Amino acid sequence: MIDADLLIRGAAELCTMAGPGPSGESMLGLVAGGSVACLQGQVVWTGPDSQLEGAVRALPGARTLDASGCTVTPGFVDCHTHVLFAGERGDEFSQRCGGATYLEIAKRGGGIGATIRPTRAASRDDLVRLALPRLGRLLSFGITTAELKTGYGLDRASELCCLEAMAALPALQPVEIVPTLLCAHSIPPEFAKDREGYVRLCVEEIIPEAAKAKLARFCDAFVEEGAFTVEEGRRILSRGKELGLIPRLHADQMSQMGASRLAAELGAASADHLESIDEGGIEAMAKAKVAAVLVPVSTLFLRQSVWAPGRKLWDAGVTVALATNLNPGSAMSENAALTLSLACLMNGLSAAEALCAFTRGAARAIRMEERLGSLCVGKQADLVIHAASSHTHLPYHLAINHTRQVVKRGKVVYERELAPCAAA
Ligand code: NIG
Repeated sequence: MIDADLLIRGAAELCTMAGPGPSGESMLGLVAGGSVACLQGQVVWTGPDSQLEGAVRALPGARTLDASGCTVTPGFVDCHTHVLFAGERGDEFSQRCGGATYLEIAKRGGGIGATIRPTRAASRDDLVRLALPRLGRLLSFGITTAELKTGYGLDRASELCCLEAMAALPALQPVEIVPTLLCAHSIPPEFAKDREGYVRLCVEEIIPEAAKAKLARFCDAFVEEGAFTVEEGRRILSRGKELGLIPRLHADQMSQMGASRLAAELGAASADHLESIDEGGIEAMAKAKVAAVLVPVSTLFLRQSVWAPGRKLWDAGVTVALATNLNPGSAMSENAALTLSLACLMNGLSAAEALCAFTRGAARAIRMEERLGSLCVGKQADLVIHAASSHTHLPYHLAINHTRQVVKRGKVVYERELAPCAAA
């Protein structure tokens, strides 16, 4: 018999995401009437509830969660966020509603530059205090792991301060934090006339210090008109890679400059955004096994007319991942349910594929698939009980939060009363 200290029993649909693929449907690993047993923060058994009692022994004091009528999935992995920032940019939202574009607003002094000022003025504790409710909202949507980027400090002290704030967060709330250094988010105003000076600052000071302090796992760069060129991105990310930081990129968001090809060339973990990717970029990513992170809420929020080709990427064999991209400028939303719905409606994924992209695909995009993203024996017991009787309801019931309970490392870290809605 297998010992367990937590049981999740009798889900209408248990989606383990441990199926073989390549289709989203087969990846679901769907067990009707499924149960999960966990011990000390790990999954120790999954299967039909009818077989649980013959296989699993609940230890004294074990907790049982009744999942009848519900769908159980792995916890969502939000593999692209900018949770750490101060200030807000509601005025830019209004300007965009009036027809201005993201790049026009940035050229007028808005955009990332407008968040640098308040973020630099904030202390580490201010940043932590501001991040906590955002992480709480992400958790309430079933997000159990979030990648967080720096990128609004853009000088040595402020970028390091943001990384230190990230390091303080795990002790204060349950969402697992994966830190990324994004000192190449924008050229800060004091270097407006000296781009080379800022690239050198990144390469010679900020990246080496972050790597030495072991405060970041990834190094990211925004390769785009108005941000960094391909050659600058190559220098910055290569330096990070040399020092042990895994490269990833904001790529092909507003224009096609070859950023997804650069991601392939560097062996990046992911290329993110991709609204403007072309066939060559897709091919290069597939060949180099670079994950594609889609952030459809920002495509909507920026009123872009072209959506990232999720369908094509999936069919080309690229690992597709989803993320909220929570940030004050291009995606002011923690609503993971909206992300799922838009991935289906606008990026062309099926419900099963979108779910896969937000769990297993996203875990792969942050190179943590061995521990996260699916519910199989030995993996971390991070899971969500959704008050919906089928996984198809998650994107179908548009932008509604179905999360009833969230389990992180085998502990219930979020719960609320919510009656399951039936699929039929
Ligand atoms: O991922 N595209 C670049 N970075 C963010 C937006 C940052 C901002 O506008 O504050 C993004 O969308």
